[in-house]
Amino acid sequence: MILKSKDVLGLKDMTAEEIGYILETAKTMKYILASKNKKTPHLQGKSIITLFYENSTRTRLSFELASKYMSASAANISASGSSVAKGESLIDTGKTIDMMGADVIVIRHSMSGAPHLLAQNVNASVINAGDGMNEHPTQALLDMFTILEKKGTLKNLKIAIIGDIYHSRVARSNIWGLVKMGAEVSVAGPATLMPPGIENLGIRVYSTIQEALIDADVVMGLRIQLERQKKALFPTVREYARFFGLDDKRLKFAKEDALVMHPGPVNRGVELSSKVVDCDQSVINEQVTNGVAVRMALLYLLTRRGSGENLN
Ligand code: CP
Repeated sequence: MILKSKDVLGLKDMTAEEIGYILETAKTMKYILASKNKKTPHLQGKSIITLFYENSTRTRLSFELASKYMSASAANISASGSSVAKGESLIDTGKTIDMMGADVIVIRHSMSGAPHLLAQNVNASVINAGDGMNEHPTQALLDMFTILEKKGTLKNLKIAIIGDIYHSRVARSNIWGLVKMGAEVSVAGPATLMPPGIENLGIRVYSTIQEALIDADVVMGLRIQLERQKKALFPTVREYARFFGLDDKRLKFAKEDALVMHPGPVNRGVELSSKVVDCDQSVINEQVTNGVAVRMALLYLLTRRGSGENLN
Protein backbone atom coordinates (compact mmCIF):
# COMPACT_ATOMS: atom_id res chain seq x y z
CA MET A 1 0.00 0.00 0.00
CA ILE A 2 1.32 3.44 -0.88
CA LEU A 3 -0.15 6.91 -0.50
CA LYS A 4 -1.70 7.98 -3.82
CA SER A 5 -0.36 11.52 -3.82
CA LYS A 6 3.14 12.94 -3.27
CA ASP A 7 1.47 15.42 -0.88
CA VAL A 8 -0.82 15.36 2.16
CA LEU A 9 -3.12 18.32 1.54
CA GLY A 10 -6.37 17.23 3.14
CA LEU A 11 -8.52 14.31 4.20
CA LYS A 12 -11.22 15.26 1.70
CA ASP A 13 -9.08 13.69 -1.03
CA MET A 14 -7.79 10.72 0.96
CA THR A 15 -9.37 7.26 0.92
CA ALA A 16 -10.40 5.36 4.07
CA GLU A 17 -7.75 2.79 3.14
CA GLU A 18 -5.01 5.45 3.08
CA ILE A 19 -6.16 6.90 6.41
CA GLY A 20 -6.18 3.41 7.95
CA TYR A 21 -2.67 2.77 6.62
CA ILE A 22 -1.32 6.02 8.12
CA LEU A 23 -2.93 5.22 11.50
CA GLU A 24 -1.49 1.69 11.43
CA THR A 25 1.99 3.07 10.65
CA ALA A 26 1.63 5.58 13.50
CA LYS A 27 1.17 2.64 15.90
CA THR A 28 4.71 1.48 15.10
CA MET A 29 5.97 5.04 15.51
CA LYS A 30 4.35 5.19 18.95
CA TYR A 31 6.41 2.14 19.99
CA ILE A 32 9.56 3.91 18.79
CA LEU A 33 8.59 7.04 20.77
CA ALA A 34 8.09 4.96 23.91
CA SER A 35 11.52 3.34 23.60
CA LYS A 36 14.53 4.55 25.56
CA ASN A 37 16.45 5.60 22.48
CA LYS A 38 14.01 7.47 20.26
CA LYS A 39 16.47 7.74 17.38
CA THR A 40 15.78 5.71 14.21
CA PRO A 41 17.63 5.90 10.87
CA HIS A 42 14.49 5.88 8.70
CA LEU A 43 14.85 9.45 7.40
CA GLN A 44 18.65 9.52 7.17
CA GLY A 45 19.68 11.69 4.21
CA LYS A 46 16.26 13.38 3.99
CA SER A 47 15.59 17.09 4.51
CA ILE A 48 12.38 18.33 6.11
CA ILE A 49 11.55 22.05 6.09
CA THR A 50 8.74 23.60 8.12
CA LEU A 51 7.46 26.84 6.54
CA PHE A 52 5.03 28.59 8.89
CA TYR A 53 3.14 31.79 7.99
CA GLU A 54 1.02 31.49 11.17
CA ASN A 55 1.87 30.83 14.80
CA SER A 56 2.16 27.30 16.12
CA THR A 57 3.50 25.39 19.09
CA ARG A 58 2.28 21.79 18.76
CA THR A 59 2.31 21.27 15.00
CA ARG A 60 5.63 22.91 14.25
CA LEU A 61 7.48 21.37 17.17
CA SER A 62 6.06 17.90 16.60
CA PHE A 63 7.14 17.95 12.94
CA GLU A 64 10.61 19.10 13.95
CA LEU A 65 10.93 16.43 16.64
CA ALA A 66 9.47 13.75 14.34
CA SER A 67 12.12 14.65 11.73
CA LYS A 68 14.94 14.59 14.27
CA TYR A 69 13.85 11.34 15.94
CA MET A 70 14.04 9.73 12.49
CA SER A 71 17.49 11.22 11.71
CA ALA A 72 16.42 13.71 9.03
CA SER A 73 17.97 17.15 8.58
CA ALA A 74 15.29 19.54 9.82
CA ALA A 75 15.04 23.32 9.51
CA ASN A 76 12.34 25.88 10.11
CA ILE A 77 11.43 29.12 8.35
CA SER A 78 8.86 31.46 9.81
CA ALA A 79 7.44 34.02 7.41
CA SER A 80 8.29 36.96 9.65
CA GLY A 81 11.99 36.09 9.79
CA SER A 82 12.48 35.22 6.11
CA SER A 83 12.47 36.96 2.72
CA VAL A 84 8.68 36.58 2.73
CA ALA A 85 8.77 39.76 4.83
CA LYS A 86 10.56 41.45 1.88
CA GLY A 87 7.71 40.50 -0.46
CA GLU A 88 8.87 37.16 -1.86
CA SER A 89 5.95 35.12 -3.20
CA LEU A 90 4.93 31.73 -1.85
CA ILE A 91 5.91 30.03 -5.13
CA ASP A 92 9.35 31.68 -5.22
CA THR A 93 9.95 30.82 -1.55
CA GLY A 94 8.88 27.23 -2.23
CA LYS A 95 11.13 26.94 -5.30
CA THR A 96 14.06 28.29 -3.27
CA ILE A 97 13.50 25.61 -0.61
CA ASP A 98 13.08 22.99 -3.34
CA MET A 99 16.42 23.94 -4.98
CA MET A 100 18.19 23.33 -1.66
CA GLY A 101 17.09 19.70 -1.85
CA ALA A 102 14.12 19.57 0.52
CA ASP A 103 12.31 16.24 0.46
CA VAL A 104 9.27 17.46 2.41
CA ILE A 105 7.92 20.97 3.00
CA VAL A 106 5.45 21.33 5.87
CA ILE A 107 3.43 24.53 5.42
CA ARG A 108 0.95 26.47 7.56
CA HIS A 109 -0.70 29.44 5.90
CA SER A 110 -3.64 31.76 6.60
CA MET A 111 -4.98 31.34 3.04
CA SER A 112 -7.03 28.26 2.19
CA GLY A 113 -5.37 26.49 -0.75
CA ALA A 114 -1.83 27.82 -0.18
CA PRO A 115 -0.39 24.28 0.35
CA HIS A 116 -2.09 23.12 -2.87
CA LEU A 117 -0.49 26.00 -4.83
CA LEU A 118 2.90 25.18 -3.32
CA ALA A 119 2.52 21.46 -4.09
CA GLN A 120 1.90 22.23 -7.78
CA ASN A 121 5.12 24.22 -7.99
CA VAL A 122 7.71 22.13 -6.12
CA ASN A 123 9.19 18.65 -6.45
CA ALA A 124 9.20 18.12 -2.68
CA SER A 125 6.25 16.50 -0.95
CA VAL A 126 4.05 19.11 0.72
CA ILE A 127 2.20 18.53 4.00
CA ASN A 128 -0.61 20.89 4.93
CA ALA A 129 -0.11 21.94 8.57
CA GLY A 130 -3.27 24.09 8.46
CA ASP A 131 -4.53 26.34 5.63
CA GLY A 132 -6.94 29.10 6.61
CA MET A 133 -10.39 27.69 7.34
CA ASN A 134 -9.92 24.75 4.99
CA GLU A 135 -8.14 21.73 6.49
CA HIS A 136 -5.66 20.63 9.16
CA PRO A 137 -5.28 16.99 8.10
CA THR A 138 -2.46 16.01 10.46
CA GLN A 139 -4.49 17.23 13.46
CA ALA A 140 -7.46 15.11 12.40
CA LEU A 141 -5.19 12.09 11.87
CA LEU A 142 -3.76 12.43 15.37
CA ASP A 143 -7.28 12.89 16.74
CA MET A 144 -8.43 9.70 14.99
CA PHE A 145 -5.32 7.87 16.20
CA THR A 146 -6.08 8.92 19.80
CA ILE A 147 -9.70 7.78 19.55
CA LEU A 148 -8.64 4.47 18.01
CA GLU A 149 -6.08 3.92 20.74
CA LYS A 150 -8.66 4.52 23.49
CA LYS A 151 -11.81 3.01 21.94
CA GLY A 152 -10.35 0.35 19.61
CA THR A 153 -12.46 1.47 16.65
CA LEU A 154 -13.86 4.52 14.88
CA LYS A 155 -16.79 2.69 13.31
CA ASN A 156 -20.21 3.72 14.67
CA LEU A 157 -18.69 5.86 17.42
CA LYS A 158 -20.69 8.99 18.22
CA ILE A 159 -18.40 12.02 17.96
CA ALA A 160 -19.65 15.48 18.98
CA ILE A 161 -17.69 18.50 17.72
CA ILE A 162 -18.66 21.67 19.56
CA GLY A 163 -18.09 25.37 18.91
CA ASP A 164 -16.75 27.55 16.11
CA ILE A 165 -17.27 25.10 13.24
CA TYR A 166 -17.27 27.85 10.59
CA HIS A 167 -13.65 28.91 11.07
CA SER A 168 -12.28 25.52 12.13
CA ARG A 169 -9.96 23.67 9.75
CA VAL A 170 -9.67 21.04 12.51
CA ALA A 171 -13.45 20.42 12.41
CA ARG A 172 -13.44 20.17 8.60
CA SER A 173 -10.61 17.64 8.47
CA ASN A 174 -12.14 15.62 11.28
CA ILE A 175 -15.53 15.56 9.56
CA TRP A 176 -13.99 14.35 6.26
CA GLY A 177 -11.87 11.74 8.02
CA LEU A 178 -14.28 10.46 10.67
CA VAL A 179 -17.21 10.08 8.27
CA LYS A 180 -14.97 8.08 5.87
CA MET A 181 -13.93 5.84 8.77
CA GLY A 182 -17.55 5.08 9.70
CA ALA A 183 -18.06 7.34 12.74
CA GLU A 184 -21.33 9.20 13.42
CA VAL A 185 -20.43 12.88 13.64
CA SER A 186 -22.57 15.61 15.23
CA VAL A 187 -21.74 19.29 15.42
CA ALA A 188 -23.19 22.07 17.57
CA GLY A 189 -22.32 25.73 17.68
CA PRO A 190 -23.68 29.25 17.40
CA ALA A 191 -25.76 29.73 14.23
CA THR A 192 -23.37 32.50 13.14
CA LEU A 193 -20.44 30.06 13.32
CA MET A 194 -22.07 27.20 11.40
CA PRO A 195 -21.10 26.86 7.71
CA PRO A 196 -24.10 26.77 5.37
CA GLY A 197 -24.66 23.33 3.85
CA ILE A 198 -22.53 21.50 6.42
CA GLU A 199 -25.34 18.96 6.93
CA ASN A 200 -24.61 17.74 3.38
CA LEU A 201 -21.35 16.22 4.63
CA GLY A 202 -23.22 13.30 6.23
CA ILE A 203 -23.33 14.69 9.77
CA ARG A 204 -25.98 15.86 12.25
CA VAL A 205 -26.19 19.56 13.05
CA TYR A 206 -27.58 20.81 16.38
CA SER A 207 -28.14 24.27 17.78
CA THR A 208 -27.56 23.32 21.42
CA ILE A 209 -24.57 21.62 22.99
CA GLN A 210 -26.82 19.30 25.03
CA GLU A 211 -28.43 17.74 21.92
CA ALA A 212 -25.04 16.98 20.37
CA LEU A 213 -23.65 15.54 23.59
CA ILE A 214 -26.40 12.96 24.23
CA ASP A 215 -24.73 9.50 24.26
CA ALA A 216 -21.52 10.84 22.70
CA ASP A 217 -18.44 8.58 22.87
CA VAL A 218 -16.13 11.50 22.14
CA VAL A 219 -16.53 15.26 22.69
CA MET A 220 -14.22 17.66 20.85
CA GLY A 221 -14.11 21.29 21.96
CA LEU A 222 -12.93 24.00 19.57
CA ARG A 223 -11.28 27.34 20.20
CA ILE A 224 -13.24 30.38 19.00
CA GLN A 225 -11.04 31.57 16.12
CA LEU A 226 -10.98 35.28 16.89
CA GLU A 227 -8.14 35.87 14.43
CA ARG A 228 -10.39 34.83 11.51
CA GLN A 229 -13.38 37.01 12.43
CA LYS A 230 -13.49 40.20 10.41
CA LYS A 231 -16.79 41.65 11.64
CA ALA A 232 -18.01 42.56 15.10
CA LEU A 233 -17.85 39.48 17.27
CA PHE A 234 -21.10 37.54 17.55
CA PRO A 235 -21.38 35.71 19.81
CA THR A 236 -18.99 37.38 22.22
CA VAL A 237 -16.47 35.18 24.00
CA ARG A 238 -18.69 35.37 27.09
CA GLU A 239 -21.76 34.20 25.17
CA TYR A 240 -19.73 31.46 23.47
CA ALA A 241 -18.62 30.16 26.87
CA ARG A 242 -22.13 30.42 28.30
CA PHE A 243 -23.96 28.56 25.52
CA PHE A 244 -21.28 26.25 24.10
CA GLY A 245 -18.67 25.89 26.84
CA LEU A 246 -18.20 22.33 28.12
CA ASP A 247 -18.29 22.04 31.90
CA ASP A 248 -18.63 18.97 34.11
CA LYS A 249 -22.43 19.36 34.31
CA ARG A 250 -22.85 19.36 30.53
CA LEU A 251 -20.34 16.54 30.10
CA LYS A 252 -22.83 14.29 31.95
CA PHE A 253 -25.05 14.30 28.81
CA ALA A 254 -22.32 12.26 27.08
CA LYS A 255 -21.51 8.62 27.86
CA GLU A 256 -19.84 8.05 31.22
CA ASP A 257 -16.60 7.02 29.53
CA ALA A 258 -16.71 9.68 26.79
CA LEU A 259 -13.34 11.08 25.79
CA VAL A 260 -12.77 14.83 26.04
CA MET A 261 -10.56 16.18 23.27
CA HIS A 262 -9.28 19.56 22.10
CA PRO A 263 -6.70 20.36 19.40
CA GLY A 264 -5.09 23.06 21.53
CA PRO A 265 -4.31 25.70 22.47
CA VAL A 266 -7.17 25.61 25.01
CA ASN A 267 -8.73 28.75 26.43
CA ARG A 268 -9.65 27.45 29.87
CA GLY A 269 -13.05 28.73 30.97
CA VAL A 270 -14.19 29.46 27.41
CA GLU A 271 -14.61 26.29 25.30
CA LEU A 272 -13.76 23.92 28.19
CA SER A 273 -13.84 24.53 31.92
CA SER A 274 -10.52 24.04 33.66
CA LYS A 275 -12.01 21.08 35.55
CA VAL A 276 -12.94 19.39 32.26
CA VAL A 277 -9.49 20.02 30.72
CA ASP A 278 -7.89 18.20 33.66
CA CYS A 279 -10.55 15.51 34.25
CA ASP A 280 -9.88 11.75 33.93
CA GLN A 281 -11.80 11.61 30.64
CA SER A 282 -9.54 14.24 29.05
CA VAL A 283 -7.03 12.91 26.49
CA ILE A 284 -5.69 16.33 25.48
CA ASN A 285 -2.16 15.49 26.64
CA GLU A 286 -2.22 12.14 24.79
CA GLN A 287 -3.27 14.02 21.63
CA VAL A 288 -0.04 16.02 21.85
CA THR A 289 2.14 12.90 22.17
CA ASN A 290 0.24 11.15 19.39
CA GLY A 291 0.87 14.16 17.17
CA VAL A 292 4.54 13.25 17.06
CA ALA A 293 3.80 9.59 16.19
CA VAL A 294 1.37 10.51 13.40
CA ARG A 295 3.77 13.05 11.90
CA MET A 296 6.60 10.51 12.04
CA ALA A 297 4.34 8.11 10.12
CA LEU A 298 3.52 10.71 7.47
CA LEU A 299 7.13 11.74 6.94
CA TYR A 300 8.13 8.09 6.70
CA LEU A 301 5.40 7.17 4.22
CA LEU A 302 5.92 10.20 1.97
CA THR A 303 9.69 9.80 1.77
CA ARG A 304 9.36 6.04 1.06
CA ARG A 305 6.90 6.42 -1.82
CA GLY A 306 8.10 4.19 -4.67
CA SER A 307 11.07 2.74 -2.76
CA GLY A 308 9.25 -0.51 -1.89
CA GLU A 309 10.78 -0.44 1.59
CA ASN A 310 8.64 -1.59 4.52
CA LEU A 311 8.83 -0.59 8.15
CA ASN A 312 10.37 -3.15 10.59
N1 CP B 1 -3.55 22.15 17.20
C1 CP B 1 -2.64 22.98 16.66
O1 CP B 1 -2.56 23.11 15.43
O2 CP B 1 -1.84 23.61 17.57
P1 CP B 1 -0.71 24.69 17.19
O3 CP B 1 -1.40 25.87 16.62
O4 CP B 1 0.00 24.96 18.50
O5 CP B 1 0.19 24.04 16.17
